[in-house]
This record gives sequence, structure tokens and C-alpha cells, in this order.
Amino acid sequence: MLIDGKLISQQVLDELKIEVAKLAVKPCVAFIRVGEDPASVSYVSKKQQTATELGIESRLHVLMDNTSENDLLKLIDAFNADKNIHGILVQAPLPKHINENKIFNHVSPDKDVDGFNVLNIGRLCQEDPSAFCACTPAGVVELLVRSSVEIQGKHVAVVGRSLIVGKPVSLLLARKHIHGNATVTLCHSRTQNLPAILRTADIIIAAIGSPRFITANMVSPGTVVIDVGINRVNDPSRKAGFRIVGDVDFDNVAPLCAKITPVPGGVGPMTVAMLMKNTVQACKRQNSNT
Ligand code: GUN
Repeated sequence: MLIDGKLISQQVLDELKIEVAKLAVKPCVAFIRVGEDPASVSYVSKKQQTATELGIESRLHVLMDNTSENDLLKLIDAFNADKNIHGILVQAPLPKHINENKIFNHVSPDKDVDGFNVLNIGRLCQEDPSAFCACTPAGVVELLVRSSVEIQGKHVAVVGRSLIVGKPVSLLLARKHIHGNATVTLCHSRTQNLPAILRTADIIIAAIGSPRFITANMVSPGTVVIDVGINRVNDPSRKAGFRIVGDVDFDNVAPLCAKITPVPGGVGPMTVAMLMKNTVQACKRQNSNT
């Protein structure tokens, strides 16, 4: 019943490790972090650690949170021009004075391992297989496929319309593809009758960024639930003073589900694995003679 994202991501990473070992050029991904947001520090460090385990090189450039947009653009220019860097990731969220879309669109589309550049989003809309696809959406589809969940013809309700998850995962699941062909309802904070809509779904993808938002009254028996949420909630009993919960009220929803992802240990590790996959892909494309 539980979809083990840690186990499935490890399968993806094991396959990638074999692929990386065969490459003549070692893939390299550059991370840019602006400021010291604790969640971002932790995510980027996990991504670097996984890269190292796979034999992928990584670089980390940390900027102060008062860095100007222009300085960040200049740093991206330098990474775009550096032939030894195959992938570039600017960790979101960025400080309020920086226009995130402008930054994402400045990353070379060929090095856009996050899939946030407007060109790659357009390619995804056009169902162009050369599109770099955002890592969390790609991870969600990979989890469903490797857990033998049928997607074609099913009603998938996506909750949340972000650029990072909701929009691209909707496009992926609706595309004409054996791992697509779903009927997708993209729900969000202004959706009316959300519980009634969700109760008609075969698969629910929760990506609204609100702790335990999806409750048992919204889920019909036999539903597959994918919880993308990573929310910190206060927990004085923990040494850190907080714990991580998803967007789904797991304890009450899980007994209803055919399958469900836990948080942590569900979608999170898949995001990292898909980033590695995109980095290997970027390296191969930039060195197509290897
Ligand atoms: N912040 C949360 N998820 C992501 C992601 O997949 N990529 C980047 N760059 N920032 C994020």
C-alpha cells in the first residue's frame, strides 16, 4: 500500500551510476543558492551528496540574500559559458526582490536541468521529447510507473498550480503517451467543491504546500494518493523543534488508499533522482561524441 520513494529512487540512482561510469566526460552540475533558508540549505546539500555518490561532479555557489538580480544574472552567464558545467540549478524560492522567472529564463535551455526555462516548458507543452522536464513532476510519473499504477484513461486530480509541480505534472499526465493519457483536473485554492471533485479522482496529486490539507472526506476508497508536500510543523518533542509533514492528513487518509506515498520518503527522494537523470542527459547531449 505504501509507495516507497526511497527504494524506487535508489533503483533509478543505481541505473544512473552504471551509466555515469561509462561516460567519457564526467557530468557536472552547478548549484546556486541565494541566502540561508534552512530548507534550501538542506535540499541543495542532499542534491550535492547524491551527485557525489553517483560520480557526478557538483559545484555550489552561495550568494548573500541581498545580492542584486544583476549579479545573479552575471553568475548564470558565467556558468552558461563554462563548458565544464553541464547543468545549472538555481534553488527556489529566491528573495522577493529577484524576479524568479527572469532568472529561470536566463539559464541556458541546454543546461536547464530544472526544466523551469520557458523554452523547456514550451517544449513540454508541444510534447517534444527533448524537453528537460521539472524534476518533481518527472519523479511523480516515475513513481507511478514503477509502482505499476495505470495512468492512461484515469482521472487525476492535481491540487496546486505552481510552476514547479502543479502545472508541469498536469501537462505530463495529460500528454499523448503510454505514461500519460490521463484526464487531468487542475485544482487550486479557488476551486469550488474541491472535496466533491477529489472524491471522483482515481489518482490525487497533492502539491498545494499546506500541511495535512487533504483530509479523509476528500478521498474515495481505492484512490492512489501522491503527496508532494514538504511542510515544517512545530514539534517541541523533536530535537530540531520541527518535523516534516505532507499536504495529506496521512493517518486518516492512508487507510482509504489503494496506494499512498509517505512524507518523508515518498516524492522527495525522486526529485533528487530525476535531477541526476537530467544532469546525465545534459552532459550526454553536450558531449554527443562520448
Ligand atoms: N525548490 C523546491 N523545489 C525545487 C526544485 O525542484 N528546483 C529548484 N531549483 N528549486 C526548488
